[in-house]
Amino acid sequence: MKKILVTGGCGFIGSNFIHFMMKQQSEIEIVNIDVLTYAGNPENVTQYRDSSRYTFIQGDITDAACVKSIFKEHEIDGVIHFAAESHVDRSITGPEIFVTTNILGTQVLLENARKAWQDDFSQKRFVHVSTDEVYGSLGQDGLFTEETPLAPNSPYSASKAGSDLLVRSYFETFGFPGIITRCSNNYGPYQYPEKLIPLMIANALDDKQLPVYGDGKNIRDWLYVEDHCSAIATVLSKGKPGDVYNIGGNNEWKNIDIVKKVLEILNKSEDLITFVKDRPGHDRRYAIDASKIKNDLGWEPSLTFEVGIEKSIQWYLNNTGWWRELQKKHELTAVGKY
Ligand SMILES: NC(=O)c1ccc[n+]([C@@H]2O[C@H](COP(=O)([O-])OP(=O)(O)OC[C@H]3O[C@@H](n4cnc5c(N)ncnc54)[C@H](O)[C@@H]3O)[C@@H](O)[C@H]2O)c1
Repeated sequence: MKKILVTGGCGFIGSNFIHFMMKQQSEIEIVNIDVLTYAGNPENVTQYRDSSRYTFIQGDITDAACVKSIFKEHEIDGVIHFAAESHVDRSITGPEIFVTTNILGTQVLLENARKAWQDDFSQKRFVHVSTDEVYGSLGQDGLFTEETPLAPNSPYSASKAGSDLLVRSYFETFGFPGIITRCSNNYGPYQYPEKLIPLMIANALDDKQLPVYGDGKNIRDWLYVEDHCSAIATVLSKGKPGDVYNIGGNNEWKNIDIVKKVLEILNKSEDLITFVKDRPGHDRRYAIDASKIKNDLGWEPSLTFEVGIEKSIQWYLNNTGWWRELQKKHELTAVGKY
């Protein structure tokens, strides 16, 4: 791959992915299309502004003319598709934009990549970054495998499932080189402070209450964002078109235990924890079986949660200006707790 199109590269995972690729692959060129919603922050990748290996386009993935012109002007070999509306609470209060961005936006990208690449798909790849939330909720036992039926429970996960099915259909219908990844919850630098871990860090540092949904016993499988990026890079270079790869950290935590861990590291009192009314349709448990990506592509997470959470907290302590700016913005746009 010489030139890749990253969508949503000013968001949390997209910007970490750009850092990862710029560091790890000295030959690669990156075109980043991001419309800069509340979640997109050009500061996240500002150091590449003058690099000959990096182009930023402020544009909307639902704008077919804009996407078409990118494929016309750049010889794109691969697409890594992150751009999405990604916050479950916002999908409950305003689902329309989730359908527009996540489903229509994915279709626009697929169609323009298909047309640009139609002479020869063999050296091209389209990695669609999806989520374990498309599988719905687990009981006490069991893990999501790539064969688990899709059963999304929120407008967010339903829109991601819809986009996954479009990618699948382009492979089945056109032989288009689409690959789907489904990752568990990420944490790490540059995560918008409306999400669980950065919100808890920010509130704890300010001695504000830490809102925990329901009984706090909802379980998520947490992966350090850089490990997610290395998994995507692995899928880009070695993944099989038409396949789905689950990505996870084998690292299940109850929300309440994550919150207590953050308080312990920051040396703050558990009295700051406040239980709030549960989120409607709140999935109880997600857990990923990531054996396929390990066995087929040789990928495994590199960090334990203990190391990853310390690193993350240290990043938020070293970059207070970054999240304080967004915190002000978040107070203006907040719709839920996290
Ligand atoms: N955060 C997680 O834990 C997690 C886990 C698994 C999968 N994912 C998936 O990874 C992807 C990235 O997630 P994230 O947490 O970085 O999200 P994010 O909300 O932090 O970033 C999304 C980015 O997409 C951009 N964007 C939104 N609409 C756009 C449009 N119409 N055109 C162009 N750009 C647009 C935003 O400006 C933002 O920069 C999403 O597809 C999400 O479903 C996230």
